[in-house]
Amino acid sequence: MKAWLIANHFLMSKKFSELTDWLFQAAKAANIEMVLMSNADCLAFLGRGGVDAFKQYHETLPDFVLFWDKDVRLATYLETLGIPVYNSSKSIALCDDKSMTHLTLEQYGIPMPKTIIAPMTYENIGYTDYDFLTMVEKELHYPLVIKECFGSFGAQVYLAKDENELLEKVEQIGTKPMLFQEFIKSSEGRDIRLQVVGDQVVASMYRYSEIDFRANISNGGKMKAYQPTDEQIALALECTKRLGLTFAGVDLLFGEHEEPIVCEVNSNAHFKNIYDCTGVDTAKQIINYILLEKRNHRC
Ligand SMILES: Nc1ncnc2c1ncn2[C@@H]1O[C@H](COP(=O)(O)OP(=O)(O)O)[C@@H](O)[C@H]1O
Ligand SMILES: [Mg+2]
Repeated sequence: MKAWLIANHFLMSKKFSELTDWLFQAAKAANIEMVLMSNADCLAFLGRGGVDAFKQYHETLPDFVLFWDKDVRLATYLETLGIPVYNSSKSIALCDDKSMTHLTLEQYGIPMPKTIIAPMTYENIGYTDYDFLTMVEKELHYPLVIKECFGSFGAQVYLAKDENELLEKVEQIGTKPMLFQEFIKSSEGRDIRLQVVGDQVVASMYRYSEIDFRANISNGGKMKAYQPTDEQIALALECTKRLGLTFAGVDLLFGEHEEPIVCEVNSNAHFKNIYDCTGVDTAKQIINYILLEKRNHRC
């Protein structure tokens, strides 16, 4: 079986290449002929003679693509060529944009923090007034959470304790899409990450921070292996099913009565930390799951 592993050409730091190397090794161990390719080596050619030109650059097309990036245009292109892409372009797009994740999950009544999506504006105009923030603070109260729709490692998630901080942060974010969220106080500095592959939660960790409301390890959070409850497992699986994901890292918060509340869903979750604290090899699980799915399809 032949496969391509697509990663981002411009994001080749150790943190990322470590994961793609890992996936690559897992594929090799499963006898898959995998080619590691960047999105800059695999440009989407469309229109007159486009696909033919693409095929000249790539003599044989793969049986599937493991898409370890968020270049959803390229993922969509590969799908139009009839190549199965994991995760699908649609799922990656829904997860990449936190507002789209919430809008999708909302349709299924999935528990989430109260969330308000900022009105969209244009880059050359910006916000000409901030009147809408009055509604935001009235509904969410302080402190409240501000998130850029596109962000990771907790780096684009902020807490505003008053009107000044809210305005300052919104001005700083500028015209980038953002959302506002009630602060789940009972989950301050703690959450859980459930790693899903197929229809199973294969590993879980509890993340906690003594220094920040965000539990991300990159922000100084600590981690330990965690045994999720049936309710937490069911919720994580419901999220991945509704978002159409083959694999994902689901972040859950703790409500007032410890009930699970969805924080976010990651289509390309880093799995080194969860390996370090649980010993579960997510790369191997992903490869084996895709192989199994392909075999079942053939039968
Ligand atoms: N509404 C919230 N209430 C309390 N804590 C939150 C809330 N949203 C996020 N957090 C904390 O911030 C962290 C980062 O938020 P998240 O949405 O997962 O963004 P990222 O994609 O950057 O990881 C979470 O892991 C959680 O600890
Ligand atoms: Mg997160």
